[in-house]
Amino acid sequence: MAAYEPLYYGDYLRLPTILNAQDPRSGSSPREAAHDEMLFIITHQAYELWFKQILHELDSAISLFNHHVVPEHHVATALHRLERIHAIGPILFQQIDVLETMTPMDFLDFRNVLYPASGFQSVQFRLVEIKLGLRSEQRVSKHLPLSAEDKERIRAAEQEPTLFSVIEAWLERMPFIQKPSYSFWQEYKNAVAAMFEHDRNMIRLSSEAGLSVAERMQTEMLAQTDMNEQSFRAFFSEEEYNKLREQGQKRLSFKATQAALFTLLYREYPLLHLPFRLLDILSALDEVLSIWRYRHVQMVMRMIGMKVGTGGSSGYDYLMRATTQHRVFTDFSALSAFLIPRGSLPPLPEEVASMLDFVYIDLLEKRRKEALKRLAVQEVKAAFTERFPDAYFLSEEEHPDNTDGIWLQYSVPDTDTANEAKTFATQLSAEIAHKHSLPCMISAKAVYSL
Ligand code: HEM
Repeated sequence: MAAYEPLYYGDYLRLPTILNAQDPRSGSSPREAAHDEMLFIITHQAYELWFKQILHELDSAISLFNHHVVPEHHVATALHRLERIHAIGPILFQQIDVLETMTPMDFLDFRNVLYPASGFQSVQFRLVEIKLGLRSEQRVSKHLPLSAEDKERIRAAEQEPTLFSVIEAWLERMPFIQKPSYSFWQEYKNAVAAMFEHDRNMIRLSSEAGLSVAERMQTEMLAQTDMNEQSFRAFFSEEEYNKLREQGQKRLSFKATQAALFTLLYREYPLLHLPFRLLDILSALDEVLSIWRYRHVQMVMRMIGMKVGTGGSSGYDYLMRATTQHRVFTDFSALSAFLIPRGSLPPLPEEVASMLDFVYIDLLEKRRKEALKRLAVQEVKAAFTERFPDAYFLSEEEHPDNTDGIWLQYSVPDTDTANEAKTFATQLSAEIAHKHSLPCMISAKAVYSL
């Protein structure tokens, strides 16, 4: 360990800086300022600290994925960090409860000194949105009343890879879904067609069986089933899908969409489990941010009603539209509509299923057993030659009765020794196999040869 200077709590946390950073404007000193301005400042500062932590996690997750090959343990680390962001969510919501102990009248005591500052100018909040993958053309308002320096930070971040872009590229590289003898997409399309055919048959059958389905209702149900199937069809054709992308209705590439759907459908396979959790957390992050936006806009309504914001936006109306429009991972959550029940899911061919298992665990176990077997054989050999120094080692081969076993052959000088050696070898090999908990046979066979 390197030698460190003794540390002082307050110095380490820079408390003098942080605790002297509250500078209310509504009075010439904090004592004279509006009482609730302190709460207003501290709440915003606490938010900014958490935004900093969120950016720290987000940057790390993006850089872990921003490689052509992403090892499984990097996926696990990134997932863990994104889950941390998700866990920060409730802290952000709860701070609104605390701030709401300030009444609209309390707020009016100092709101006039805030112009034109606003949360609009929170660069860290903008960076969170950008790094998640929010595109500038998606924004409700492109006008950002920021300093030149902050605008430059935003511009620079917009050139960088985002969580959306690195995960899209990673999904596009997913093997498994297209093999010479297997096409996930074809299998999926067949399964969907069979599922809708089954639904139609059920509707017809229930009417034939006189089960309370009136003719008009049956026609409606069949039409509804056709419409549902139609929505799948638009999704099946790459051409149709790309049209939706051009119109801005879809964002994720066709290839990445297929891989994401494959992951959601076959998530029980060990190798798909982490990717599944990762896709799940993306929608959950969108949800956290939307909940925060929604809570914020409700608070805004309560505090200032329909007044314009200090940052110059329409206030409530702007924030409400941002709540619905500023989502990044909607393509992932929209995939829920294309899931099919487990019973209709085509089983994976062995070739693909075996690739999705943790085969290396078996491999390690196999190697461990192999090493133990070598050790046991050494021990049997040593004990046998110690007991019968005149025995001559002949061969070591697979046991004829058990492929997991080993067969050692020795030649001994006479038949008496051969009988004695046979009993000894049987006991010895059983003892040693037992000692190492080996489910295999190690037998030493002594033969009398002239
Ligand atoms: C009395 C409490 C608050 C009121 C009345 C309020 C009001 C507003 C309004 C009206 C806007 C729209 C922009 C504008 O024209 O100013 C806005 C935006 C924003 N506020 Fe607040 N706010 C409050 C508290 C907070 C807090 C505690 C935070 C935490 C950091 C925050 C963060 C933001 C952010 C990030 C935006 C930009 C949202 C976006 O563009 O999507 N606000 N706020």
